Amino acid sequence: MRNFIENMPKAELHVHLEGTLEPELSFSLAEKNGISLPFETPEALIAAYDFHDLPSFLKIYYAGMSVLQEESDFFDLTWAYLEKAASQNIVYAELFFDPQGHTTRGVAFETVITGIHNAQVAAQEKLGIKSKLILCFLRDMSADSAMEHLLMAKPYIDWLVGVGLDSDEYNNPPVKFKEVFALARKWGLKLTMHCDVNQKNTLEHIGQVLDDIQVDRIDHGVNALESDALCNKIKARQLGLTVCPVSNRFVVQSLTSQEIRTMLSKGMLATINSDDPAYFRAYLNENFIALQEEGNFTKDEILTLAANAFSVSWLTEPEKTDYLHKLSVFSDTRAE
Ligand code: HPA
Ligand code: ZN
Repeated sequence: MRNFIENMPKAELHVHLEGTLEPELSFSLAEKNGISLPFETPEALIAAYDFHDLPSFLKIYYAGMSVLQEESDFFDLTWAYLEKAASQNIVYAELFFDPQGHTTRGVAFETVITGIHNAQVAAQEKLGIKSKLILCFLRDMSADSAMEHLLMAKPYIDWLVGVGLDSDEYNNPPVKFKEVFALARKWGLKLTMHCDVNQKNTLEHIGQVLDDIQVDRIDHGVNALESDALCNKIKARQLGLTVCPVSNRFVVQSLTSQEIRTMLSKGMLATINSDDPAYFRAYLNENFIALQEEGNFTKDEILTLAANAFSVSWLTEPEKTDYLHKLSVFSDTRAE
């Protein structure tokens, strides 16, 4: 099963680039940029990762960003993730980035997006891994700040496939960003939003992303299972859910394998993702492997989860068909 998962061609749709910052890269960038980290070694930094909910994670995640200063730092970060992803047979990735996490530290938007974009181009050329970029707004900042950043992105619109919403959900409902997302949609961008697990007013928030924002996909969204009405809407619209098992385990002490199986049985398009793999110490293969072990998933179920990711991705239809064909060739060869 492990081999099967490792060799399977996969897409990843929920990964924060800043969450792929490995402690070793963090130390080398800190040294280059003359920044002192409050840890002696990468191992000591990892030992300080103590997450039990979203705020405790976010505190460490934002602190980690301080080493990202120059365009080449964003290139190196993105390249390292794409290289790791290619080594795990991820053939396509949609990447989140948090520009407000950088502009608020005095790093220019242009510096951030240019470094990321150049690494995406290089990785496609040299590693054969395709990727697209999603600009995320920090929901604990103002709607005005989000709008400012959307306007900053206008000259780079061709480098983006969509916009998302992340950071602390507590008292930051989707409707706060209704105008920002409406403008993004007008510009032709796809829309997604985080509905993190077990947040206050989660069902209300999931309702808003469906009705007020009309998203094209939902990040996490596991709590939708508590409402038949929400499940029916998600299913009727064929919306993908980007579930992140190892990330969820820090909050709910389970990989949500039961919930993922329930989604599949209801015909909801669940996908498996790594979220912040450097912090949660698990890339996509480790997420699939742990999930399979906890939930005793069959190869057919694993293939369905992988196929869902291509289907609900923001690739063009011919690209989707091509990747789904590669996945079915893989499945046929393995069955023999
Ligand atoms: N949820 C909210 N904000 C985030 C996450 C997440 O999973 N990862 C990075 N920022
Ligand atoms: Zn996330």
